[in-house]
Amino acid sequence: MNRFHNRYCASEKWKSVMVGEILPWVLEDLELSGPVLEVGPGPGLVTEALVRYGVEDLTTLEIEQGAADRLRSRFGDAVRVVTGDGEDMALPDGGFSTVLCCTMLHHVPTTAGQDAVLHEAFRVLQPGGVLAGSDSRTSMRMRIYHIRDNFNPVDPGSLGDRLEAAGFRQVQVDATESRFRFRAVKS
Ligand SMILES: C[S@@+](CC[C@H](N)C(=O)[O-])C[C@H]1O[C@@H](n2cnc3c(N)ncnc32)[C@H](O)[C@@H]1O
Repeated sequence: MNRFHNRYCASEKWKSVMVGEILPWVLEDLELSGPVLEVGPGPGLVTEALVRYGVEDLTTLEIEQGAADRLRSRFGDAVRVVTGDGEDMALPDGGFSTVLCCTMLHHVPTTAGQDAVLHEAFRVLQPGGVLAGSDSRTSMRMRIYHIRDNFNPVDPGSLGDRLEAAGFRQVQVDATESRFRFRAVKS
């Protein structure tokens, strides 16, 4: 991420939106009882909230080495931090009951890469496991935030079909003007 974007993703302003509004929307009626994987934690605002919510078995997968190192020193034994690519997760099949993917897909530069992340989420979920997440929709502000950074916004209108193509069922995508959430089950 570019430096401005990195700072914004760690800011109190984003925390109040992400943790105060978006995360409760993403997690609505979802039980986080088994192993949870968070893909693309960045500075860790969602990670911190998950620890606070009492998630005991939490793994994060972050592609940027520096961000992963910072998470490791911040969370210690409370979180298993893996440095790696969501398009090719170095994680075993069926190891997680929930995969969370917040504000991350638009950073994956290609549509094929985004689909690979969805396929990998399906692979690492247990049968009955749930993929849940959110992302921002495209706007002038989002384009400015991503100058000299990857920006490949997802169209919520086609995401349902893409989740089904990855193998998911009970797919749900809800969009507002500025963002969307999604949920899908590995049945
Ligand atoms: C905008 S931040 C989101 C941080 C946090 N999830 C949130 O919602 O506040 C996106 C993060 O996804 C990470 N990321 C991008 N592509 C990735 C990939 N292929 N695999 C794992 N992480 C990735 C980026 O390095 C960045 O830390």
